[in-house]
Amino acid sequence: MLHVNENYSKIKPTYLFAEIAHRVSAHQSAHPDAKIIRLGIGDVTEPLAPSVIAAMHKAIDDEAGKGEKFYGYGPEQGYAFLRDKIAKVDFQDRGMDIKADEILVSDGAKCDCGNIQELFGPDVKIAVGDPVYPVYVDTNIMAGRLDITLLPCTAENGFVPGPEAAGDADVVYLCYPNNPTGAIATKAQLQKWVDWANENKKLILFDAAYEAFIRTPGIPHSIFECEGARTCAIEFRSYSKTAGFTGIRCGYTVVPSELNAYAADGTPVPLKPMWTRRQTTKFNGASYITQRGAEAIYSSEGQAETKATIDFYLENAALVREALSAKGYKVTGGVDSPYVWVDVKGDSWEFFDKLLKEANIVTTPGAGFGKAGEGYIRISAFNSRANVLEAIERLNKVL
Ligand code: MLT
Repeated sequence: MLHVNENYSKIKPTYLFAEIAHRVSAHQSAHPDAKIIRLGIGDVTEPLAPSVIAAMHKAIDDEAGKGEKFYGYGPEQGYAFLRDKIAKVDFQDRGMDIKADEILVSDGAKCDCGNIQELFGPDVKIAVGDPVYPVYVDTNIMAGRLDITLLPCTAENGFVPGPEAAGDADVVYLCYPNNPTGAIATKAQLQKWVDWANENKKLILFDAAYEAFIRTPGIPHSIFECEGARTCAIEFRSYSKTAGFTGIRCGYTVVPSELNAYAADGTPVPLKPMWTRRQTTKFNGASYITQRGAEAIYSSEGQAETKATIDFYLENAALVREALSAKGYKVTGGVDSPYVWVDVKGDSWEFFDKLLKEANIVTTPGAGFGKAGEGYIRISAFNSRANVLEAIERLNKVL
């Protein structure tokens, strides 16, 4: 008999954003003329930076035989031209000791965040924030790890839990700037986690997908800004929100050489060769064209262009924040983050439905990110200015 993986019956039948897309499309079918404004999933709206487009065109010429050479299968870990730039610009120039061979380029942070758990034993205990990006939880449940500790992220703790809540968890997922709450963590808060992990042989999986949105000086862009993180942390980075690559697909994961997990007899086992083995076996690398585009982000033009686009989204976030605050709602995020987290003082799916039905605005209900997200909605700042201004006008009418 063909047995299924029963763990799939322990997660919700549809992924959060698929469920939202389903409700939105039902609403659109019922109201074909409705002009829906999507502030739900964090999907970018602004075009790729000109220097990225130019680099990708040139790369296509290479692949078309007009350039320097034709590229077939690339290195699964990523091309050296990109890994070297990442190591230098994202880490070494910012005072962090990360080498190019500790960076593995991929098709995005979502896949890496989901796949990394394959390196750990089935009995490993996981801790995640609550609310949380659903990928961390669902992928562990799919693998049969049901013992998941929830770290409440509440207004009381500024949406940043401390290690005292982690109990006997072996692996903790942290995401700052946070998805979904938009909260940021200070260096002292992250250092506490790093110290806890090193003292207790734990691992931090740090999702830094939104680091490019940090504008407040002193807020860490990477877990590797903390002392001792090289022996207890893996970091995920994404070009999706940084440079508009949600459709292009590219990101990377940093696994320091001295980072270990442990065999049953206590022997340390380095994780970098394991992740390399996993990626070289199951993944054929991001395309050459994509990686040339990603490389262009690191040119001085690319840096200026991508920064300008992020500044634009941050201005959107500030507008949404101000509008809801003026209506008397308590809001978090939207500063150093593209997400505004709104206390709606009621059921989050009901509030979601109200905004969809009465204002044709899509948001994300907090409950979709976990129990502690109930009572909130997340509003994404990824949209055109005209749509954000129109959404604010509509919100002002219905709230
Ligand atoms: C979100 O809206 O939470 C993100 O866009 C989802 C993702 O990055 O996969």
